[in-house]
Amino acid sequence: MGEPVPERGVRTEELATRLEPILSRYRGQAGGLIPLLQEVQGELGWLPEEALRLVAEATGLTLAQVVGVASFYAQFYFQPRGRHVIRVCTGTACHIRGAPKILERLEEELGIGAGETAPDLSVTLETVNCLGCCALAPVVVVDERVLKKRDHKKLWEWIRKRRVE
Ligand code: FES
Repeated sequence: MGEPVPERGVRTEELATRLEPILSRYRGQAGGLIPLLQEVQGELGWLPEEALRLVAEATGLTLAQVVGVASFYAQFYFQPRGRHVIRVCTGTACHIRGAPKILERLEEELGIGAGETAPDLSVTLETVNCLGCCALAPVVVVDERVLKKRDHKKLWEWIRKRRVE
């Protein structure tokens, strides 16, 4: 992923320059909208409205069509996301085995609530409902890495280190 863009203060020209290598491969191709959106999100961390406009221009679709498709899929985000994403499973098995306490501690340590991104875009904290690996409960996922209970020590070490950086 490229450096995530903040919610405000990014100029359209900067965005256009940054996205040009991606957009140029999809120009005039309305059929490649999903992979294009995935690549744009991969570069920016989320899909700002201005980026959706650029996608519409490049593909020849209307902004409404692009937004309609993007908003249909849960994989696309319309708010800034952090460089790292921590997801706490709050499904039944994880809940019983201590997920609420883990979430509370994460909120305290990171200074953000569930569903929020740190202002410096370093991290996003989310909850999910059952990741399908209940035997490992309570489960926390950092980026794509699943941490079962005995790995949680590493999570707290990582957060402590992040605070002193
Ligand atoms: S409830 Fe957490 S993995 Fe299933």
